[in-house]
Amino acid sequence: MKTLIANFKSNKTKAEMQDWINRFFSFPEAPVEVILCPSSIHLGLFPEHRTARQLVGVQDVSPYPAGAYTGAIAAGNLAGYGVTHAIIGHSERRKHFGETNLEIARKIHESLEAEIIPILCVTKDEIVSQAEAIPLSERERLLVAYEPIESIGTGHTDSLASIVETLQRIRDVFRPQKTIYGGSVSPTTTSEILKNESIDGFLVGSAALDVDKFRSLCDGVS
Ligand code: PGA
Repeated sequence: MKTLIANFKSNKTKAEMQDWINRFFSFPEAPVEVILCPSSIHLGLFPEHRTARQLVGVQDVSPYPAGAYTGAIAAGNLAGYGVTHAIIGHSERRKHFGETNLEIARKIHESLEAEIIPILCVTKDEIVSQAEAIPLSERERLLVAYEPIESIGTGHTDSLASIVETLQRIRDVFRPQKTIYGGSVSPTTTSEILKNESIDGFLVGSAALDVDKFRSLCDGVS
């Protein structure tokens, strides 16, 4: 079964998020695992009773434990919100917030300590350097998403051959739980990508903002 991760980024008001959630949970469930990652401020809007395939994640956690770190959301703070996954090291975090590989490794450690599964985002040419600060025992507990920067939000996915080759390199270096592709995935992405057996799932930004598009993507991958 494929995994579809919705990255809402810094989008949606409370009312807009509530509307998305109401509509999504009114649809019949598709045979895919979904991990819905809203802005953390909206976590309390999700229904508490969800199926094992309807998961909720965050888009970041603090590199520090719970404590005197004003403004930060520690992985430990998320207990009780039903959060199972955390996107870590997204290229937008690296670019706009100056996150380093060392900081990302700390975030991974903090997430795992809180029993939250990290979804680590990596690029093609830096797979080894982005893995280096992460101990082997932690690498194999991750989901790793290949996210080419030139494909994010541009409407142009990477080629199937490049995705397949890069995910294999990720498997060699990380031995992760799952390998995911992200970058302009939408319901119009070719079925040879959406249905490819070596791709465990997709990280979806823009196309997740519209609940009907996201739902149609659920059908497209299943
Ligand atoms: P996109 O974003 O689907 O809008 O390209 C993907 C991502 O940033 O994870």
